[in-house]
Amino acid sequence: MTPRIQIYDTYEAMSDAAAEAIAHRLAARPGLRLALPTGHTPLLMYRRLAALTRERGLRWDRARVFLLDEYLGLGADDPGSFRRYIAEHFLRHLDEPPALDSLDGRAADPDAECARYEAAIAAGGLDLVVLGVGRNGHIGFNEPGSPFTSRTRVVTLAPETRAANAPDFGGDPAAVPARALTVGIATILAGREVLVLAAGSAKAEAVERALAGPVDPAVPASALQRHPRVTWLLDREAAARLPEVTSVRGGAGE
Ligand code: GLP
Repeated sequence: MTPRIQIYDTYEAMSDAAAEAIAHRLAARPGLRLALPTGHTPLLMYRRLAALTRERGLRWDRARVFLLDEYLGLGADDPGSFRRYIAEHFLRHLDEPPALDSLDGRAADPDAECARYEAAIAAGGLDLVVLGVGRNGHIGFNEPGSPFTSRTRVVTLAPETRAANAPDFGGDPAAVPARALTVGIATILAGREVLVLAAGSAKAEAVERALAGPVDPAVPASALQRHPRVTWLLDREAAARLPEVTSVRGGAGE
């Protein structure tokens, strides 16, 4: 299945396009059910999306947001938690925020929490899954080796992921939680549409392997080759290693 690949000159342009694509889908379907990522890549997308919401009078009050993942052991009041991130960078900028569901990193029974979450997602499915990509090709916190049949579960983070996320924990990889809860690859593939964002040269190899390499659990994002409706939004640097054959087609906003 051929993904659509949109390449933008800058991170800013990529972020605008991502915000536009989401705004467009919300306008078309006010009860949109969407999964959202954290990380540095979507920060500007959230800012632009909040601005578009105000400019266009978009309403989020009937939509439902699911976060892709959470660190095990962290709660909403923890500065490193993804629950805190989404509140800080997106939800608090909306007058009428959507309903938010996320994995509770402090759940007494994390496995039961994962089962609850998978069921909550399955209850109406996901209209749109927005993803970032790790430098090692991870999506959500599905690290290399994650089965494509995986569902929401507790995972152990790869050392390179803890190193990459260390800046959010005072710079010390050992301070990054060793485990996390994440939706699975099969959970992501069950979404009706997927939007993937990647920016910067540090992502170029992961993007190349995901799009132009074999479908292989060693590169979790390569699983997206099996999805019928995926759009990649890339800046020039992230797209730098793509072969000609996979270059630009279609627009994400349609
Ligand atoms: C994380 C998240 C992913 C995210 C990825 C890339 O740790 N669990 O959902 O897409 O890493 O993050 P960044 O955008 O900061 O490079």
